[in-house]
Amino acid sequence: MTHFLDINATSPADLRSMIDQAKVMKDARKGQPKGALDADQPLAGQMVALIFEKPSTRTRVSFDVGVRQMGGQTMVLSGSDMQLGHGETIADTARVLSRYVDLIMIRTFEEQTLLEMAEYATVPVINGLTNRTHPCQIMADIQTFEEHRGSIAGKKVVWSGDGNNVFASFAHAAGQFGFDLTFTGPPALDPEMVFVEEARAKGVKVEIERDPVKAVEGADLVVTDTWVSMHDPQSARERRHNQLRPYQVNDALMAHAKSDALFMHCLPAHRDEEATSAVMDGPHSVIFDEAENRLHAQKAVMRYCLGV
Ligand code: CP
Ligand code: NVA
Repeated sequence: MTHFLDINATSPADLRSMIDQAKVMKDARKGQPKGALDADQPLAGQMVALIFEKPSTRTRVSFDVGVRQMGGQTMVLSGSDMQLGHGETIADTARVLSRYVDLIMIRTFEEQTLLEMAEYATVPVINGLTNRTHPCQIMADIQTFEEHRGSIAGKKVVWSGDGNNVFASFAHAAGQFGFDLTFTGPPALDPEMVFVEEARAKGVKVEIERDPVKAVEGADLVVTDTWVSMHDPQSARERRHNQLRPYQVNDALMAHAKSDALFMHCLPAHRDEEATSAVMDGPHSVIFDEAENRLHAQKAVMRYCLGV
């Protein structure tokens, strides 16, 4: 069973071949309408369940469109409408869904839910975001970086803000793709050290630098994300904003990065909070390429999981 649960749970060779395939599939569609079918229809006859226990725009639409382009069919399920949200166990849900569908993508809260789904499903399971990681996002981000700047190996990526689930998948990717990563943010919102240490053990430089200006020096890529994630309590909003305000990505900060540095944000963004509109819409920004590449990267992930 080939699941896609996390970037550190997939080999560098498999990750590389998915990124390369995503690029080939994207190029093959150039100039075609979004609803045009891919020539080879690798998912013909396959049924894919997309389960959401949290809101989503990009993940929902990009998976749904991607499956359809490849000739498969989808059903989008909301956790609260399923018996899963009313006490049925994850294990039973996994075993039942596996009798109906060929592939499961789930966006959930606890990582344990994802892991149990994968343990009991007899079809592949894809992580569409948990409180801890967001691997599909980072596959799209790697694809996007490499489209603009070539290989990400050896480059310097700087994360400014909350040490959250998206940062965690960047740390996984640093180890697997071989780039250096600097985290800059307040100590209270540091990432889990296990992510940092695991990447370091793979031989890449992962630094924590409290001064955002120092952190971005020499950066090839500057990344940020919302200051309050979907799993964070709203009661923490004001405190987080106060802690994270010094880490806003604005023109003054970007001026300290390399002159050709890229700017990324997984979106949805809170404009003029974690990043200014001037940066989001400015010359460094590739945020909408990132969003588009969710589609292409995830198509490659689904083909990898299904072996097609
Ligand atoms: N970046 C991302 O996962 O967006 P959605 O929450 O809209 O799916
Ligand atoms: N860190 C954000 C990412 C959203 C795509 C969250 O978990 O809400």
